[in-house]
Amino acid sequence: VNLALNPALPNRWTALRPHDEQRRLWRSKARFRVVPAGRRSGKTELAKRYLVRRAVVAHEERPQYDSWFFFAAAPTRDQAKRIYWDDLKRLVPDDLILSISESQLIIKLITGAEIHVIGMDKPERIEGTPWDGGILDEYGNMKARTWTLHVRPALSDRGGWCWLIGVPEGRNHYYDIFKNAQADDTGEWDAFHWKSADILPAAEVEAARRDLDELSFQQEYEGSFIHFQGRAYYTFDEKIHCRALTYDPVQPLIICFDFNVSPGVAVVCQEQVLPGVFLADGEPVIGTGVIGEVHIPRNSNTPAVCRKLVQDWGGHLGKVFAYGDATGGAKGTAKLQGSDWDIIAQELRPTFGQRLFFRVPKSNPAERVRVNSMNTRFQSATGLVRMMVDARRAPHVVRDLEGVRVLEGGSGEIDKQSDPHLTHLSDAVGYYIVREYPIIKLIGEQQELRIV
Ligand SMILES: Nc1ncnc2c1ncn2[C@@H]1O[C@H](COP(=O)(O)OP(=O)(O)OP(=O)(O)O)[C@@H](O)[C@H]1O
Ligand SMILES: [Mg+2]
Repeated sequence: VNLALNPALPNRWTALRPHDEQRRLWRSKARFRVVPAGRRSGKTELAKRYLVRRAVVAHEERPQYDSWFFFAAAPTRDQAKRIYWDDLKRLVPDDLILSISESQLIIKLITGAEIHVIGMDKPERIEGTPWDGGILDEYGNMKARTWTLHVRPALSDRGGWCWLIGVPEGRNHYYDIFKNAQADDTGEWDAFHWKSADILPAAEVEAARRDLDELSFQQEYEGSFIHFQGRAYYTFDEKIHCRALTYDPVQPLIICFDFNVSPGVAVVCQEQVLPGVFLADGEPVIGTGVIGEVHIPRNSNTPAVCRKLVQDWGGHLGKVFAYGDATGGAKGTAKLQGSDWDIIAQELRPTFGQRLFFRVPKSNPAERVRVNSMNTRFQSATGLVRMMVDARRAPHVVRDLEGVRVLEGGSGEIDKQSDPHLTHLSDAVGYYIVREYPIIKLIGEQQELRIV
């Protein structure tokens, strides 16, 4: 980090605020360094600088070779380019640059050192080069065997070093390698950790707390390896979230679909003033009210679900918005003819006419983003409640929210197998919530990538 004070460096080397753990990471003698720290906490910035620094001095450090190879890797090539490319070009002193290949994402230095920006979507890209060192960023989102199968062997030729950095992703392979690094007593591995709040302004951290559920906040901003277990919708609590809600025949009605046969389902919502909750300044909270459901236990299909909706809600005077599974029953389960979305249009249009609108994306967002958006809406890390369920009108929604579980030992993935009756209703509402109240913008790189 001292390099920042050297006047010969490009002005991209701005001074960083001193930070003990960052300094320990920079000065560490460990060959492999595992760095699960919070979002926006300076992981990538430090890694870029370290990589450039080691590339610039490589010919002095290892004079036995006449060329040197360094990599900056991320889960995909697009992501790697976005994370590193512009900054690496600006961090290398101009007069040391021999050539820059925009197509191959390689910076060659006049010393003989090379910096390669690599996407691990094709991990073979890392094989065959005798790397002197490199960075794996967003390591938690790489495939589990990336390290052992592809990266570690490629570091053997020259005893190359590596930083494995990124926000945790449940207790997956990143957690395992972090634990091993912590336990290592050979000096080859070391582990480093700090929270976003050390670097980010307090107001930013508070905003994140308000816009994320507790576990997502701990994972993303405190860099914690969350042990996802038990209920998927863990912030939902009948005592807090089940209230008598209102229905307004003029305000927009939201209908959420998930396509399935046993049961056939839909969930009906309306945004409204939620009873009994208030903002810090005493203002009422406007949030999502689940005010109805369709639940046909067996042998259902999309027309049957729609007929029930017309029967229950056909008198609605305001607009009607349809949300749901973008794949539209692609598995064929609930399909008779055309796509499920065509069927819904045919069935509902005669009743709602031009007041019916479809809000269905081309593809579904990542499941974890959907579940976390739901959890955040039920209760943010600051305790704010922005969603409730009328249990008398939507009893199966409550049962679903209480019953759906995550896979043991996963990164928060829903367990779809253990009870086939569950997940459909909560999935349906989730498509609405993630579309209108997503948390993706807050939780960085990988999630944004997945949602396009
Ligand atoms: N010690 C520091 N003092 C002040 N600012 C810092 C310090 N370390 C890093 N920063 C700044 O914090 C910002 C975020 O850094 P960076 O992109 O490296 O975060 P990250 O941990 O990789 O975040 P993400 O998880 O979102 O990828 C950068 O603008 C960086 O310059
Ligand atoms: Mg980063």
